[in-house]
Amino acid sequence: MSEETPMPAAPGYKIKVTANGPYIVTGGVPLSEWIICHDPDGHSHGWREGRKFGAPSAYALCRCGGSKTKPFCDGSHFSNGFDGTETASREPFAARSMELAGPELTLSEVPVLCSQARFCQRAGDTWHLVQKSDDAVSKEIAIEEAAECPSGRIVLRDKSGKLLEPLLPPSIGLVEDPVKGRSGPIWVRGGIAVEAADGFVYEIRNRVTLCRCGHSNNKPFCDGRHVKVKFRSSE
Ligand code: FES
Repeated sequence: MSEETPMPAAPGYKIKVTANGPYIVTGGVPLSEWIICHDPDGHSHGWREGRKFGAPSAYALCRCGGSKTKPFCDGSHFSNGFDGTETASREPFAARSMELAGPELTLSEVPVLCSQARFCQRAGDTWHLVQKSDDAVSKEIAIEEAAECPSGRIVLRDKSGKLLEPLLPPSIGLVEDPVKGRSGPIWVRGGIAVEAADGFVYEIRNRVTLCRCGHSNNKPFCDGRHVKVKFRSSE
């Protein structure tokens, strides 16, 4: 798999973005909370699974941020003025990414996709680690950090051009960020197709994050705005 060679869609699963309404998930996609863990210095490192919701054949996930029955839609979007207009680029990742080449690793990134999960900040940050990736420990940590990023903002390749992606089963994670006291985006994993309200199918990727606070300026994708607006799924 490579960001230049499109990933095949996970068969049978789909997320449909509806106009000014929820995400309709079909095909029996497993749904659970995923909680960001951290190291002794408070840097994001690792994940743990929280509440599980099974794998219903179809469900509607709130994307306006206003439901009283989160993560599911309760129809509040009809009365709270939610504007779900999709403004995200429809170009593939490879066509708009910036590159940073290190001795052993190359980093590609699209900053607007950042979901503020902060896995890239540990041990001096992924960019610095890539630049000294001829050091085995730096290389290993860089790969680990990029793989923990839920949004796919950062993608690493080795010297041969091979993509270094984590193996993610098709599933949906509801990100919780206890260090920041915020709830994060919807973490779509394993190549599940995301279809826009007008029928366009976004590039199939191993991992993307979808907005669920209702405030992203890059809908349907998360741009980290949940941190600023203090989004909490329990409210
Ligand atoms: S999208 Fe329906 S309540 Fe939020």
